[in-house]
Amino acid sequence: MFSFAVFISGNGSNLQAIISATQSGAIDGKICCVLSNKKESYGLVRAQEANIPCIVIEHQNFKSREEFDNAIVQSLKEYTPDLIVLAGFMRILTPVFIRPYLGKIMNIHPSLLPKYPGLNTHQKVIDNEDAQHGVTVHFVDENLDSGPICAQSSMQVKSKDIEELKKSIHELEHKLYPKVIQDFAKGNLKLKKEN
Ligand code: GRF
Repeated sequence: MFSFAVFISGNGSNLQAIISATQSGAIDGKICCVLSNKKESYGLVRAQEANIPCIVIEHQNFKSREEFDNAIVQSLKEYTPDLIVLAGFMRILTPVFIRPYLGKIMNIHPSLLPKYPGLNTHQKVIDNEDAQHGVTVHFVDENLDSGPICAQSSMQVKSKDIEELKKSIHELEHKLYPKVIQDFAKGNLKLKKEN
């Protein structure tokens, strides 16, 4: 059976949408573990309630990003995930993690990439008076927020209230991410290898 790990750092509303999709059968697969770099992440509670194994690896306990990434690689060995789903995981991963999982890591980003990589995307949309905003699911490679795009979903910007914008973007994310994971599970989505 297709199995995947979900990495989080916070609230985990995307994780919740993904858990629900595995429970309803919209994703044909199971979450083998949820990993967080923060022990207080509310997403860990969501995972426990769904009886999903949790791993906490706190980045501040490591001297370098590479050592942290190596600890993640080691901890995942017993789960052998087919895919790593980054869902609000707020750490930049290094090649130590990315290389062994290349083509098997995806991330969701709250903007229409390549517009607005990095943080504060909603504020940038408001400041630039953009008519459109949206979300992107992309494969993760060694560059920040710039791996090949799997799918995007967009909306008209109707409000300049950042909280309202954030809420609408989350709703888009919760619909899009489970669909993309299911596409990957079915073998319909593959990272093209560069020559
Ligand atoms: C999402 O907006 C996602 O795009 C970004 O971090 C946020 C995580 O939200 N990478 P949640 O923890 O899933 O609620």
